[in-house]
Amino acid sequence: MKDVLNYCAAHQDEYLEQLKDFLRIPSISTSEEAKADIAKAASFVAAQLKGAGMNSVAIHPTKGHPVVYGEWLGAKGAPTVLIYGHYDVQPPDPLDLWKTPPFEPTIRDGKIFARGSADDKGQAFIHMKVVEAFMKTRGALPVNVKFIVEGEEEIGSTNLADFVKKNKKMLACDVILISDTHMMGVKQPSITYGLRGLTYLEMTVTAAKGDMHSGTFGGGVANPIQVLAEILTACKDPKTGKIKIPGFYDDVVVMTKKERAELAKLPHSDAKWAKDIGATKVHGEKGFTTVERTGTRPTFEINGIWGGHTGAGVKTVLPAKASAKVSMRLVANQNPMKIAKLFMDYVKKVTPDTVKCEVKLYDNNGHPALTPIDSAGMRAAAAAIKAVYKKDPFFTREGGSIPVVADFQQLLGSEAVLLGFGLPDDNLHAPNEKFDIIQFSNGMKTAACFLDEFAKIKA
Ligand code: BES
Ligand code: MN
Ligand code: MN
Repeated sequence: MKDVLNYCAAHQDEYLEQLKDFLRIPSISTSEEAKADIAKAASFVAAQLKGAGMNSVAIHPTKGHPVVYGEWLGAKGAPTVLIYGHYDVQPPDPLDLWKTPPFEPTIRDGKIFARGSADDKGQAFIHMKVVEAFMKTRGALPVNVKFIVEGEEEIGSTNLADFVKKNKKMLACDVILISDTHMMGVKQPSITYGLRGLTYLEMTVTAAKGDMHSGTFGGGVANPIQVLAEILTACKDPKTGKIKIPGFYDDVVVMTKKERAELAKLPHSDAKWAKDIGATKVHGEKGFTTVERTGTRPTFEINGIWGGHTGAGVKTVLPAKASAKVSMRLVANQNPMKIAKLFMDYVKKVTPDTVKCEVKLYDNNGHPALTPIDSAGMRAAAAAIKAVYKKDPFFTREGGSIPVVADFQQLLGSEAVLLGFGLPDDNLHAPNEKFDIIQFSNGMKTAACFLDEFAKIKA
């Protein structure tokens, strides 16, 4: 592997300059005005794949943002690795909290700061460069490789499952390799074997046809903010942290004693964890550790709540309406549609007849996913980590979601390996997102070794 690893190291500065060009494109998938930048980012990826020696490189249109595909199938008899990444990014706001502008990538203290640096442009770029390094040094890869880089991950990959369904043959593979998660630390390499799923809803409680004077009408009609708060608090028991929606836990796969024992061995301190996020102490479902609560247990979260007077000064208003956005992180084998239905039924049941409550389901849903630690891909990833870091990886379950993982597993019948090179303090979705350059260089080494190890395991 020396030839390829040396090539990556020798070209790192040049690669980082190219990554900066990628990061300068504000490809925000939620934004209607970003269509041109989305197209620009897709073209950038296509050009990179061509430059890396991939064949059949194409930008495939979908009902939403395009999917970029490229392949190299010259390794006769060797297995096929499907590499997934996303070129879309989250909106950068609040802008005033960024030390340097989100789309002007800047290197400080060995980290590259920009929206998308870790999530996911910087991580996806690692694989494009590794493949290029193999092709430039050897003219071949140890395995067949297919790339699928999409532009709708941050909005729930709404059109990707359809694309996968229609292109099953093109995407057929032995393993799916994804770098869109983080490891525990620069010197604490870890591999993710589980992701949570997600279901996202919005509800509006209406008490009257318009806002009212709170003196004239107050006391005689329901307050929609009060009712909304009551409905929301009925969803979770404050003492035990259990979600009270009937049937909510029915499909949750119970953790084995062995899994809980393994998770308990992960280096974690509640005190440090709380301090790092500026919380006074940890909080969550009774009977579970913080590692379990954030990775292996489902949650109910209120993401936003509004209504009435929130401007300066006083306004004695009795509002007509109040709204909230709520979401639930799900774990294997909960189904996001089924859970959404259970939530809607429960809300209907607990809503008093003094108000109307409308609930709308967003289509930014995702199924949870689990990959067996002893699968071939996971073993190859562990061997690659060992080769680069000189130690065995930890295996973790992540609280975040990558909706396409479960779709890939179901539609293509292959396991996904979540070999992420981000770090827990990367500020994903927040101001000052960054990607450590050491993670970029170790990431290239590990990704290169993965291809080599997977070929060996499957030989
Ligand atoms: N890369 C993240 C997911 C992630 C982050 C996994 C950290 C593990 C650790 C991904 O881009 C993301 O943000 N996903 C969204 C999906 C949602 C919009 C459907 C999420 O998890 O909120
Ligand atoms: Mn991501
Ligand atoms: Mn993200």
